[in-house]
Amino acid sequence: MTPEFWLERWQQGETGWHLPEINRHLQEFWPQFNLPANAAVLVPLCGKTLDLLWLMSQGLRVIGVELSPLAIEEFLTENGLTAVMTDASPFRSYQVDELTLLCGDFFALTPAHLPEIHAVYDRGALVALPPALRESYAAQLKMLAPNAAQLLITFDYDQQQMAGPPFAVQRNEIAQIFAGKTIIELANFDVLNEAPNLRQRGVTALAEQVWKLE
Ligand SMILES: C[S@@+](CC[C@H](N)C(=O)[O-])C[C@H]1O[C@@H](n2cnc3c(N)ncnc32)[C@H](O)[C@@H]1O
Repeated sequence: MTPEFWLERWQQGETGWHLPEINRHLQEFWPQFNLPANAAVLVPLCGKTLDLLWLMSQGLRVIGVELSPLAIEEFLTENGLTAVMTDASPFRSYQVDELTLLCGDFFALTPAHLPEIHAVYDRGALVALPPALRESYAAQLKMLAPNAAQLLITFDYDQQQMAGPPFAVQRNEIAQIFAGKTIIELANFDVLNEAPNLRQRGVTALAEQVWKLE
């Protein structure tokens, strides 16, 4: 998936992954992370997810990273927010209270752009990337947030039935790309009935899995 692929999705309004509500797995499982007040949470490939607001409401500092300026503009407009914009080359930084949105390529992010990160929230990020990029994504996270706990939400289905995104990501791959982390499966749901669009694309069985990496 090239940057152009994603920029075009936003331009065409083809953002079927976006949820109109806070993610239920985030609300259920995040308390397990027991973060101190004011801890910093990184949300890679954040889109315009409302989960950013929920994380903020938990008293956390939140840093979202998103390629598309349109996604960030929609996030701000739809939530009635006004941001202070600054240059954080090669990113453009949008600041709203304790939320920082960095607009640019996640793979260009360096530790210099970030405070110490205590936790990572990944919904729709790892599964958005093709196999060849997933290892680099994990390496990038390891470099940016070496000691962070991670809540990771993935899909599993027969990859022969549909071309991603979202891609199927299984436990063995997670263990391989995040080697050194302890991987705990928190939940595994059959979500085929909640994903008519994927069913339409040929998927006959679909699991959504929630993982804690620490
Ligand atoms: C499947 S969407 C998920 C968005 C969000 N996590 C959610 O749950 O709604 C993937 C997002 O990643 C963004 N993206 C893709 N590649 C990126 C990159 N290299 N750096 C930053 N953002 C990227 C896309 O623009 C898109 O908004």
